[in-house]
Amino acid sequence: MKSLLRRKMMMLVFAGVTLAQVSAMAISPQALAQEKGCFACHAIDHKVVGPAWKDVAAKYHHNLKYVPYLAKMIKNGNSGIWGSVPMPPQNVTQAQAEELARFILSLK
Ligand code: HEC
Repeated sequence: MKSLLRRKMMMLVFAGVTLAQVSAMAISPQALAQEKGCFACHAIDHKVVGPAWKDVAAKYHHNLKYVPYLAKMIKNGNSGIWGSVPMPPQNVTQAQAEELARFILSLK
């Protein structure tokens, strides 16, 4: 009886760990970008509708001081920087926009 209880406890602990891992994966920047639909217009290393994110990273010298600037662009949209097609405002929180900006700047 006691050992059955312990086994149940172990399973609960295990389930908790697995859940934590899954949610950690769900918030990886790439998964976030996927979920937010960024890849409808962007790719990491080639132009789609919007610029390749590697080109964005290079333009801003991989410099994290541009995180707030890019986060603002991601949230509010932008136009006229890469061409004539505007980027519409994106449905992301400030924290998500910053996470995506940091991720994009890290691409080489
Ligand atoms: C409907 C198409 C579309 C979607 C969806 C989209 N983008 Fe863009 N994005 C663009 C276009 C077009 C540009 C270039 C705009 C310009 O020239 O100013 C751009 C530019 C950018 C830039 C460069 C901004 C700058 O100041 O140089 C970043 C960073 C960016 N997008 C990130 C994202 C992220 C992150 C997402 C998802 C949350 C996203 N985009 C979703 C079309 C899109």
